[in-house]
Amino acid sequence: MSAFSFAPCEIFEIIAKTEATVSRFYSHLAQLGLGEEASKVFLVLSEEEEGHGKTFLTMAQVQREKHGAKKESSVNIREILEKAIQRIDRSLLSLTPLDRRNVDLRQSVEIAIRHEKDSIEVYTEMLKSMPQDFSDVFEKTIAVERGHLKVLEGVLKNNPPA
Ligand SMILES: [Fe+2]
Repeated sequence: MSAFSFAPCEIFEIIAKTEATVSRFYSHLAQLGLGEEASKVFLVLSEEEEGHGKTFLTMAQVQREKHGAKKESSVNIREILEKAIQRIDRSLLSLTPLDRRNVDLRQSVEIAIRHEKDSIEVYTEMLKSMPQDFSDVFEKTIAVERGHLKVLEGVLKNNPPA
């Protein structure tokens, strides 16, 4: 199997962009008028994903300035991230119907939960595939995303199906 070669700054840039998109996705959800509890939760998630975006952007800048050698991985990290971004795009599309009255709280939370599970999976993948000097940032991010998952599951519990 041929190794996949990549520049860490390039990977961090993609992750930063993805987190910025997810942050916009949550801020969009917060504005849908799905109730006070949900709006507050979505706003907090939006801010935390924005924070992730900034962290990864800083990492990208540091790596770019270092001009380090390309790294190698046995898996195609770029492809894993691109697939994750496509899933986020699809979630965004499914939440922007022409008729906003059709957007439902549980449905939105379920989409968010799916995204959080996806992101935990992708970061776990990154943790395994990226050089060990980056393990810390991925471990911390996974911990925060796990927290998001718990909060969202709590919202579902508090809002049982009608
Ligand atoms: Fe998250």
